[in-house]
Amino acid sequence: MKIGFIGDIVGKPGRLMLKKHLKRLQQEHFIDFTIANYENASHGFGLTEKNCIELLGYGVDMMTGGNHSFDKKEILDLFEIYPLIRPINYPQSTPGKGLFQTTLLSKEIAILNLMGYYTMPMVDNPFTMIIQEVERLKSEHIKHIIIDMHAEASSEKQALLHMLKEDVSAILGTHTHVATDDLSVIDGCCYVTDVGLTGCHDGVIGMKSDVPIKRFLTGIGGHFDVPDTCKVIFQMVVFELNDEGRCIGAEKIKIYDDKPKIVTQAWID
Ligand SMILES: [Fe+2]
Repeated sequence: MKIGFIGDIVGKPGRLMLKKHLKRLQQEHFIDFTIANYENASHGFGLTEKNCIELLGYGVDMMTGGNHSFDKKEILDLFEIYPLIRPINYPQSTPGKGLFQTTLLSKEIAILNLMGYYTMPMVDNPFTMIIQEVERLKSEHIKHIIIDMHAEASSEKQALLHMLKEDVSAILGTHTHVATDDLSVIDGCCYVTDVGLTGCHDGVIGMKSDVPIKRFLTGIGGHFDVPDTCKVIFQMVVFELNDEGRCIGAEKIKIYDDKPKIVTQAWID
């Protein structure tokens, strides 16, 4: 089976890139199931119901979140209706779930959303929690396990890889919005430190640069804003899993504006 994974979709420019390219890419790359991160999809902060329906209509099958999952309060009702998850290591009483399970091509697949520690909201220990969760899934004979590791620190993401590479199918990093050049298949696990944003690539992490620059020059913050017009990028990792849930190949797809797609193969180790 082939899975597509899109990182942080930032605002309308990001959503429109999915509209423009996703269904065509799903056909060209024989993608069976598409995952995307929703946490910045509605003007950079959270997800509205309107934008949720919009993204599902563009071909996304389910969506993961992060530290901005709860920025739009209507998300609390959306968890019950749509295929959305939030980091699993939020406290147990937090609305929503951190695990999505479905059957794909006769295989049970599990998608987990995990949030790191560094600069993140107070959450339970992601490492101890994910070990328990993966053990439980394995005891149910689930072999196709995909993790969105939403974290600032690359060290946390790499540590997770080496903890779980023999037990899970893929670990895809999100949150920093800046793609890293380390897409690999290591011992049958697809890994990248950060998939990178889909949205504006000529600002600061998908936002207008004026407020971040002011913040760094003066120490006075402001509200980050997604520009109406900008230079855009679409970024997606596509990885292939065999019947045992092991990754046998992966590639990164990038499209700048309307330019031809750039496809880079993963390093296989
Ligand atoms: Fe985030």
